[in-house]
Amino acid sequence: MVKICCIGAGYVGGPTMAVIALKCPKIAVTVVDISAPRINGWNSDHLPIYEPGLEAVVKECRGRNLFFSTEVEKHVAEADIVFVSVNTPTKTHGLGAGKAADLTYWESSARMIADVSKSDKIVVEKSTVPVRTAEAIERILTHNRKKINFTILSNPEFLAEGTAIKDLFSPDRVLIGGRETPEGQKAIETLKDIYANWVPKEKIICTNLWSGELSKLAANAFLAQRISSVNAMSALCEATGADISEVSHSIGTDSRIGPKFLNASVGFGGSCFQKDIMNLVYICECNGLHVVANYWKQVIKVNDYQKSRFVNRVVASMFNTVAAKKIAVLGFSFKKDTGDTREAPAIDVCKGLLGDKARLSIYDPQVTEDQIIKDLSMKKFDKEQPAHLQPPSPTSIKQVAVVWDAYTAVKDAHGVCIMTEWDEFKKLDYQKIYDNMQKPAFLFDGRNVMDVGKLRKIGFIVYSIGKPL
Ligand code: NAD
Ligand code: UGA
Repeated sequence: MVKICCIGAGYVGGPTMAVIALKCPKIAVTVVDISAPRINGWNSDHLPIYEPGLEAVVKECRGRNLFFSTEVEKHVAEADIVFVSVNTPTKTHGLGAGKAADLTYWESSARMIADVSKSDKIVVEKSTVPVRTAEAIERILTHNRKKINFTILSNPEFLAEGTAIKDLFSPDRVLIGGRETPEGQKAIETLKDIYANWVPKEKIICTNLWSGELSKLAANAFLAQRISSVNAMSALCEATGADISEVSHSIGTDSRIGPKFLNASVGFGGSCFQKDIMNLVYICECNGLHVVANYWKQVIKVNDYQKSRFVNRVVASMFNTVAAKKIAVLGFSFKKDTGDTREAPAIDVCKGLLGDKARLSIYDPQVTEDQIIKDLSMKKFDKEQPAHLQPPSPTSIKQVAVVWDAYTAVKDAHGVCIMTEWDEFKKLDYQKIYDNMQKPAFLFDGRNVMDVGKLRKIGFIVYSIGKPL
């Protein structure tokens, strides 16, 4: 039986390995992590991450050919193929702080693989890494000159949170990068055979190592760029009376542009878009490509601009102050169908509103109070961060209430901000909400998911992104 071990039981390692185990019953898959609470979660009825469809997959294979363990070294030593799916956040100190990827976790994984291995292994880069990381990893793997062959592959992951299982079941493509040597090509074939258990062969793209690594950064940069492009257009729509939904539809019908990923919003969030673009910017700078670096930096700048524009709009509409006013914040995760709050736009918007001394009542169906308070209290690493986005003082944190029901959040509120497009927000009784709010009742739709006409008929003053007032 082929043995796979995946280091890192996070948003990527957990779901990807669960799907490999489901689709390949003849392969034994063990996911290992240094975090005992995470592993305990994976072995319990309350999985550590919320992802539609995940529980069913895990329940079917766990204990059969899918295992979760903290015995990292043991399972790495026994494996034929080791996936490394550890976090690669942005460096917060030292050289490249604020831009470069922090490869500490990757490096320590590679050192450990080298130290404990007693047999040949294919080592797969699942984490998103800077281009040419494999070169450094190869040097680490071979540092103690054992007679063991390590073949490194790049196999970046393209799943999106909230649709991870659907994306893994039928990916647009699977990408495998490897060395153009006989060993490299053999390893590519081995990994290809695993995916071929459920992915059509024509969807499995094979490249050299560096193209594999760079394609992942490029894909995220292009996706984020699309959102910043549409968000930049939304500002112009608001200034001119054009409607961003009509503009998105009109341009999206051009088959060269395509209709997906053109929803204007309060800004993109998530753990990867910003970090991967900053990583790309850093790589460009290191290669002396300053014009290219500045080009990609603008994608982040427009995203920050979109979030502050939203805060300014709320404050300006509510008679230039939200001090002591109750603002209900519906949704805190960075998108629907996930409890993940990493880089969620709600964090910056809430900080901005607290900076103007608002009282916040926050509700999200999947995010706990502890997480929300932690996110709002955390200092965000950003050298260029404006003062109003610094963490609020302990006194303003007291102005935050986290509640477990949308109706409680909006009761007696002066304004409502929709920060995440959870389906349940579309189904709320807005007449009831209006009746229980202070008047005039404001609603700021940061996701363009509301029926504006219907809300205005009820009496709400509605602001959506890129739409006529
Ligand atoms: P995560 O933080 O959810 O999970 C990483 C896990 O690795 C953590 O549980 C951590 O404890 C563990 N870990 C760190 N060092 C370890 C070590 N030495 N030994 C054992 N375990 C260790 O991160 P994630 O969201 O799963 O992302 C992982 C990688 O995948 C990142 O490079 C990310 O850019 C990339 N990625 C993420 C997504 C996504 O949707 N989250 C999608 C595609 C790619
Ligand atoms: C994104 C990519 O879509 C994945 O392919 C990639 O694997 C992943 O990053 C990663 O590398 O981590 P994810 O961040 O999970 O996935 O979710 P997305 O659906 O891409 O949404 C990202 C953000 O953009 C969310 O805040 C979302 O609300 C926002 N968004 C998305 C918009 O504002 N408008 C859109 O049209 C689409």
